[in-house]
Amino acid sequence: MTIDLDALPHDFLWGTATSAYQIEGAVAEDGRAPSIWDTFSHTPGKTAGGDHGDVACDHYHRWREDIALMRRLGANAYRLSVAWPRVVPGGDGPPNPKGLDFYDELVDGLLAAGITPSVTLYHWDLPQVLQDRGGWPERDTAEHFAAYAAVVADRLGDRVRHWATLNEPLCSAWIGHLEGLMAPGLTDLTAAVRASYHLLLGHGLAAQALRAAVPDAEVGIVNNLSTVHAASDRPEDVAAARRMDGHTNRWWLDPVHGRGFPADMRELYGVDLPEQPGDLETIAAPLDWLGLNYYFPQTVADDPDGPAPYVRSVRRSGVPRTGMDWEVDASGIETLLMRLTDDYGARRLYVTENGSAYPDVVRPDGTIDDPERQEYLVGHLAACASAARRGAPLAGYFAWSLLDNFEWAYGYDKRFGLVHVDYRTQARTIKGTGHRYADIIRSHRDRAAKAA
Ligand code: IFM
Repeated sequence: MTIDLDALPHDFLWGTATSAYQIEGAVAEDGRAPSIWDTFSHTPGKTAGGDHGDVACDHYHRWREDIALMRRLGANAYRLSVAWPRVVPGGDGPPNPKGLDFYDELVDGLLAAGITPSVTLYHWDLPQVLQDRGGWPERDTAEHFAAYAAVVADRLGDRVRHWATLNEPLCSAWIGHLEGLMAPGLTDLTAAVRASYHLLLGHGLAAQALRAAVPDAEVGIVNNLSTVHAASDRPEDVAAARRMDGHTNRWWLDPVHGRGFPADMRELYGVDLPEQPGDLETIAAPLDWLGLNYYFPQTVADDPDGPAPYVRSVRRSGVPRTGMDWEVDASGIETLLMRLTDDYGARRLYVTENGSAYPDVVRPDGTIDDPERQEYLVGHLAACASAARRGAPLAGYFAWSLLDNFEWAYGYDKRFGLVHVDYRTQARTIKGTGHRYADIIRSHRDRAAKAA
């Protein structure tokens, strides 16, 4: 499979992505307070093998080595998240200077290595103290989030231009408050809908705070979207696919594009939104860019007895799957990039996450060959380039993930890294996919230099 590299802009951002709780470790160091993920992962039965992020990849101490790895890949961008409980341990109130120092040095280190930092403010690690006061179902949390955003922007905004407010609010709201499979582990539709609302309000308020502190900030939001297919052409299944599209895609995209919350989904959830005058305008503040996290497509059938949105996933046979049991379908990323371009008028797009987990085998010589992951990477990059060729304003791609890391409720067993981590020794080894990514980056750079 070839990737139409000439379709990508010469200044394309070739990045890798991680998030704080998944890699940092050092959960009790230098004034960091617990987050909802510390609580959840230490609750028996919530994560595979009882795994937690106490040490993770020890990135808090090894970040220099990790920047050196990014350089070896030839990446020119890095998407990281800031841990709210490290920077404002009380949730609101005074910042923790040592927490800020960590990100300050990390940003300096990235810039010195010629790597553009892209900072996400919230990748699911709400300070536990705010959860104890009600968490995202409460409006105060959105306001505290904006205050925290201002703290981070004040410290890093002289060097960081590229900001995301939220990562995958769908997971925080639906998986964390409705399905109970992520922190804070609730199964309550009212709490979930209220959380979704306050997450998006928090996004809008944080965007204002970022722009006030950093006049040239480029602000976006990162959503995990899916293509949704009906399991059959029965009208009930077609309607189920429409509901799943509302739950997964439109609920998150429409409000930030000034379309309000989709009426069909409001009716389906049947939960009053905690709306106050001006909120929808705040949520719809113009975005500089949209981030797409894409992993797999979904096929659904009607399930009137299930929880909202009353669908059940249908397993298609004969389709390749990753180690997460997720279907592989690279055409989905192209479809979604075109939808964001054509239906939502995106001005700039980034693929902020894309990648695959497979069981890795370390060979006796220490190398890791991972052909399936390589195929996934190349197939999805080819689909991205195809979307760019068709007019999608795609400005960068961030592979998930730089390192194997704590895969939330799945623990450490699922490995998404371009770089293998031996959790006993913390040794890092670039996998075959990492080398392949480096080749692709180099070849794009060479072609761009020739064309310039
Ligand atoms: O590891 C996660 C990441 O934190 C958010 N997006 C999906 C990844 C793979 O599941």
